[in-house]
Amino acid sequence: MSTNEFNKCDGEDWLYSDIVKEHFFHPQNILIDDKDYVADGIGVTGSPLCGDMMAVWIKVDRDKNVITECKWRTFGCASAIASTSMMSVMVVENGGMDLHKAKRLTPEAIIERLSGLPDRKYHCSVLSHLALREAIDDYQKIHAKK
Ligand code: FES
Repeated sequence: MSTNEFNKCDGEDWLYSDIVKEHFFHPQNILIDDKDYVADGIGVTGSPLCGDMMAVWIKVDRDKNVITECKWRTFGCASAIASTSMMSVMVVENGGMDLHKAKRLTPEAIIERLSGLPDRKYHCSVLSHLALREAIDDYQKIHAKK
């Protein structure tokens, strides 16, 4: 890549918001070792665009049908880390998000709470909500059988 080509990329689209930086440098609810963590649902997904992976673990209050804990781990980039950290905060704040609402959580809603992401990083934010949906499906499959 020439210097000119690099300079073309050196615009607004490369800037991260302060909220993205805060969640990247201080990620919330990350789970480094899941060996002793007992989850109610687990979701794992990968990005066909970059090959990165994401795992999400949830705990659910069965009476209220809300998410009480959301843990995660990823091989993804700074945008994936910040997006998933924010998602994990959003689904447990205010007493926990209802499972139906959590399943409808969109990357756009997460990006809005982050005050934006570079366009080319949209696919990174998708990983967290897809893994969350998998974790909710996993929980619902297990509890539908009981
Ligand atoms: Fe793979 Fe961001 S480039 S998650």
